[in-house]
Amino acid sequence: MSTTPRLSGPFRVGDRVQLTGPKNRLHTITLREGGELHTHHGVLPHSTLIGIPDGSVVRNSAGHEYLALRPLLRDFVMSMPRGAAIVYPKDAAQILSEADVFPGAVVVEAGVGSGALSLWLLRAIGDAGRLVSFERRPEFAEVAQANVETFLGHRPPFWDVRVGDLAADLPTAVEPGSVDRVILDMLAPWECIDAVAEALTPGGVVLCYIATATQLSRVAEYIRNTGLFTEPDANETMVRGWHVEGLAVRPDHRMIAHTGFLLWARRLAPGAVAPEQKRRASKSSYGDEDVELWTPGAVGDRQITDKNLRKRVREAQRAAEGARHAASDAGSSAGDDPADLDRLD
Ligand SMILES: C[S@@+](CC[C@H](N)C(=O)[O-])C[C@H]1O[C@@H](n2cnc3c(N)ncnc32)[C@H](O)[C@@H]1O
Repeated sequence: MSTTPRLSGPFRVGDRVQLTGPKNRLHTITLREGGELHTHHGVLPHSTLIGIPDGSVVRNSAGHEYLALRPLLRDFVMSMPRGAAIVYPKDAAQILSEADVFPGAVVVEAGVGSGALSLWLLRAIGDAGRLVSFERRPEFAEVAQANVETFLGHRPPFWDVRVGDLAADLPTAVEPGSVDRVILDMLAPWECIDAVAEALTPGGVVLCYIATATQLSRVAEYIRNTGLFTEPDANETMVRGWHVEGLAVRPDHRMIAHTGFLLWARRLAPGAVAPEQKRRASKSSYGDEDVELWTPGAVGDRQITDKNLRKRVREAQRAAEGARHAASDAGSSAGDDPADLDRLD
């Protein structure tokens, strides 16, 4: 019998199953002939699950109920072992969309980290595609490969993991102009842009996933200055969950406010020069003197006129004067309020 996990249909040997038991405790098991889940609530033989539909509820030896579901890819990536920080599912979905990752695409990614993004990319390109993943740290590459194997049940033959630096090794790994999409998730993506420009096919997409605004700015300017890409676009995705129960319908109190930014651009054809589209910021590269240059004009902000500024000053002064009056009124009447007596002593 095949032990490659299936993503739908009745449970069978080799499938991963997520069980939600007493007190909402989660257990993830891989179904085996003769296997058993032992908890202090009793024993659940794997045979109870084999052959029954996904989404079933079963009982263990002590009569406790367990809801059995196959983990979705997003459940798996959030709970799998991590060597490095992962790309969250909300960002992976945006990466696939903004970088236009398609079935059959030749995709390069770095770094592999824990393999979260690799799993989404492998699913999107399918077995007609090819994914070449670079990772500097061998231990991380091992974690990623193990995670992919755990989820898919095998190492896909169309996935090539290379331990090494993308900037140094990409030129020997792929033919120039042969790659459809490149996804960079690393601290210094600008170090890889020259190699990426060489590898990408005309019209191909490079997408960088970066954590801070300073990295975002630096890689954007690097890409612009090559003259080899279209004007970069950038965005971030904030997902706010909602509590929807009866008449209590409202946003969740907590959310993950920041994970990273996406920035992407397309490779121009050899010799093509992109038409000038936007007014450029007056300053676009970093130097030591830049500490003095974080002015609104230098970063592309509209500057306030002298007239508007004087208006703002008057508004601020009026507000301060109002606050001073309120404070002196409160002082003169403080003795009238018994609650103020202690504070005046
Ligand atoms: C944040 S992790 C990647 C996480 C991964 N995308 C995931 O979803 O699990 C960044 C990884 O990039 C690797 N890295 C950084 N620069 C690299 C380079 N130039 N070439 C290859 N790997 C690189 C680091 O070792 C690290 O493992």
